[in-house]
Amino acid sequence: MLYDYPRLEEKLIIDKLKTNNHEVILTNVNNKPLTIGEKITDISLIRSVSMYKALYAAALRESGGCRSINSSYTIAICGDKILTLSRLKNAGLNIPRSTVAMDAESAQVAFRGLKKPFVDKPPIGSWGRLVSLVTDNVSWRSLLEHRQMLPTQQLKVHIMQDYIEVNNRDIRAIVVGGEVLGAIYRISVGDEWRSNIALGGKPVQRRLDPILEEAAIKAAESVKGDFISVDILEDSSGTLYVNEVNGVPEFKGFMEATGIDVAGALMRFLEEVSKR
Ligand SMILES: Nc1ncnc2c1ncn2[C@@H]1O[C@H](COP(=O)(O)OP(=O)(O)O)[C@@H](O)[C@H]1O
Ligand SMILES: [Mg+2]
Repeated sequence: MLYDYPRLEEKLIIDKLKTNNHEVILTNVNNKPLTIGEKITDISLIRSVSMYKALYAAALRESGGCRSINSSYTIAICGDKILTLSRLKNAGLNIPRSTVAMDAESAQVAFRGLKKPFVDKPPIGSWGRLVSLVTDNVSWRSLLEHRQMLPTQQLKVHIMQDYIEVNNRDIRAIVVGGEVLGAIYRISVGDEWRSNIALGGKPVQRRLDPILEEAAIKAAESVKGDFISVDILEDSSGTLYVNEVNGVPEFKGFMEATGIDVAGALMRFLEEVSKR
């Protein structure tokens, strides 16, 4: 396993593998240099919090002929919301209608044509950071100014989306090896409209139904994901919109709400892959 900051998830996975007599080599990418072309194990589980460290770790392991889970392809696509939404749409999935503006000028043109409120987010980010609800011209002008001051080109790019009336919650499904383990609602709290667990969102079990299951499986396939979470927005009429796919999924809240042994399911998948 390659990681940077071990969270509860990493500890659970390591415990599960070790108690089932699997050999686990732990590599903290922050203190261990990695050589291109080196093969240490047949399978590498990629678990860095940092998306770039995860992407590089996966690619480096693949360079030696190892199978990275997830692959560098999946991590690259999932790490960028424009790439993810493009794959999802291409696979025929329903997504929030999204416009991409590469610069402040095009963002201003898009702003005029959008129904308010709308959602503005950069292509890179997690835990809800910089995901904004734009209600009016005044707040929009200041958002535009702030985004232009950010240090990288990618953070200056705007994804401008229809706001889906989600009733303060979204759905997270976890898919392992093409199978949906289960789903939760993440319910936002107080005046927070975003439902990320990192922002206080509360996980509650959500029944799996065939439409949700199909969307989650198709979303995983569209990014060639082995072990991923799929975030889905459901409007008041029950229509589903796939919002994003995470290539290094956190599952603490999912586990608490469903009692599903995610680490165990992941281990069974790893065992299956190692037999192929
Ligand atoms: N188009 C949208 N309509 C309604 N809510 C949204 C929309 N986009 C994002 N959200 C809310 O904001 C949260 C964070 O947005 P998301 O795109 O998932 O970014 P992050 O990668 O930071 O989690 C979502 O979980 C959801 O609650
Ligand atoms: Mg999200």
